[in-house]
Amino acid sequence: MDPILVTTGWLAASVLFILSLRGLSSQLTARRGNVYGIAGMGVALLATLTSDAFADGGTTRWVLVIAALVVGSFVGAQMARRVAMTAMPELVALLHSFVGLAAILVGYASYLQTHGEGTARTIHLVEVYLAVIIGAITFTGSILAFLKLKGTVSGKPLLLPARHLLNLVAVALVVWLGSRFFAAEDTSGLWALLLGTLVAFGMGWHLVAAIGGADMPVVVSLLNSYSGWTASAAGFMLGNDLLIVTGALVGSSGAILSIIMCRAMNRSILNVVFGGFGTGESKKPAVAPSGDGAAQEVREASVDDVVAALRAAKSVVVVPGYGLAVARAQHAVREMTELLRAAGCEVRFAIHPVAGRLPGHMNVLLAEAAIPYDIVLEMDEIEDDLPDTDVVLVVGANDIVNPSAMTDPSSPIWGMPVIQVWEAKQVFMMKRSRAAGYAGVDNPLYYHPHTCMVFGDAKDTLDRMVAALRA
Ligand code: TAP
Repeated sequence: MDPILVTTGWLAASVLFILSLRGLSSQLTARRGNVYGIAGMGVALLATLTSDAFADGGTTRWVLVIAALVVGSFVGAQMARRVAMTAMPELVALLHSFVGLAAILVGYASYLQTHGEGTARTIHLVEVYLAVIIGAITFTGSILAFLKLKGTVSGKPLLLPARHLLNLVAVALVVWLGSRFFAAEDTSGLWALLLGTLVAFGMGWHLVAAIGGADMPVVVSLLNSYSGWTASAAGFMLGNDLLIVTGALVGSSGAILSIIMCRAMNRSILNVVFGGFGTGESKKPAVAPSGDGAAQEVREASVDDVVAALRAAKSVVVVPGYGLAVARAQHAVREMTELLRAAGCEVRFAIHPVAGRLPGHMNVLLAEAAIPYDIVLEMDEIEDDLPDTDVVLVVGANDIVNPSAMTDPSSPIWGMPVIQVWEAKQVFMMKRSRAAGYAGVDNPLYYHPHTCMVFGDAKDTLDRMVAALRA
């Protein structure tokens, strides 16, 4: 096909990907964003498969690509259909490892076919080396992130005594091997590329090993960013504009997302990557000591107590957290919301930016249960209304409503913005025990005079509440 048409196709695909990202930034337009993304990928495939460079490969290339497309689409569709919402981060981590591996393989293939000389050759070698090194870091880092998230490997951070020095030595080694690689004639620099790849494999593994299992969502987002830069480097290597643009979009959006997550937790990227925070263990003391050393007791409420308070309430705010996803209680929450609204009560949802384990985790769950978007509010949209709220239902949330983030400078979550639910007249906290959440710290909210604990699985509790409200 005419190269101009192919380039136009790539340009159209790039625009569709940008529109897709724009659409995905809000629940109202997310479906449209997804359609743009699919269309963009369709156009990109079509333009690539009809390009002259592709046609030069003859029938064998067609057969291979169509076979790969059929197998890949089938496996991808099965994975997407089966994956549970809580297992989404590990699937994403696994998919990033594929991007890394692809960049390594394309890099080697491109190097072994390298011709030319002078500056053009050096530029090409830099592109190959960068794509392979970033790809190798992404590959092993993503595999380890996947294993940690799956629980196959312990979430405990591996904090070697001289780990920063080790990373520095590895970087220096990669740079030195790079200089040997660029200086070598023809393909005689293969040994340097191979050694560089091995060192980068080790770097990726070590970087992620040093990060606590609980910080994996930020790491997955960072790896997402790396995989984008890998694709971009591969784009330069192959002279493919679409890959450059798409890689840059993925790279920058992953980086921005990581920064947003870190800001919402009041931590820096460096603290996440080098901090060794989060052990993956979420259990902590069942009863917190009070100032005089005596154990503090919590007040417990039954389902009937909660239902009585809800019947009397004019305004209710629901604060969902990770436990809502674990219990799969979103449909029960919707039923409760419908019943309360039908009885004239104002029900709204307060969403913390890092509630759950994925960006937008709660929004996705609530959208899945068809909860109207206009009653789902960001935490700063609802903050001022909390003192006038009759009842707050905290459903499987913990850290995001922990007052110690504002009162205890020694707390690991000190400075993290939290939803100040204790300002409301009455708080019911639904969870199974007094165990800590993601950050592994006790929550003084359990002992607050406005709080009553409702112990049990959130779905079970909500189902019983719905039955009682219906009665
Ligand atoms: P968490 O602090 O992890 O608390 C979740 C609570 O849910 C747990 O304390 C658990 O208590 C309860 N729970 C678990 N299963 C339950 C079930 N079946 N029924 C009822 N309750 C259940 O979650 P959060 O409040 O949503 O805060 C999110 C945390 O993740 C923050 O610390 C945040 O910094 C971190 N984080 C989030 C992200 C993103 S992007 N969302 C990224 C990185 C880190 P029991 O075991 O007692 O039931």
